[in-house]
Amino acid sequence: MGYRQAQGTVYRGCRSDRRSLLDAGCGTGDTTLYFANLGRKVTGIDFVEEAIRRAQAKAAERGLSAEFLVKDAMTLVEWDRSFMSVIDSGLFHVYEDHNDQERYVRGLAHVLMPGGPALSLRVQR
Ligand SMILES: C[S@@+](CC[C@H](N)C(=O)[O-])C[C@H]1O[C@@H](n2cnc3c(N)ncnc32)[C@H](O)[C@@H]1O
Repeated sequence: MGYRQAQGTVYRGCRSDRRSLLDAGCGTGDTTLYFANLGRKVTGIDFVEEAIRRAQAKAAERGLSAEFLVKDAMTLVEWDRSFMSVIDSGLFHVYEDHNDQERYVRGLAHVLMPGGPALSLRVQR
């Protein structure tokens, strides 16, 4: 299955859920805004300030409401926020080191409400 097809399948699976969603490693916000357009309460984080600026500009241009924050996903364990679900489109696999992967996943568990799904997509080359 191709990346876009997999993305579509995952997205269809959680599009009807209206509760809070975190898009970790949101880049310039396309995934975040996809869900915002569906009425989801969605927060996109990325540690690249320029990416977040561009995401905010896209949201304004499209008249969509989404929260975008400059945030390092490696610090999620210290965050006092929680989300009903998390989507990660291309972030987890950026971490090649096992310790980094573990730290990131611990952070996801920290911000995720009990029973909430965390969905991770990767580009297979
Ligand atoms: C492959 S891109 C995917 C972008 C977007 N999710 C998409 O599907 O188009 C990975 C993103 O993760 C971000 N990223 C990498 N390490 C990060 C970290 N520690 N904290 C937050 N964002 C990070 C990068 O800046 C980049 O925007």
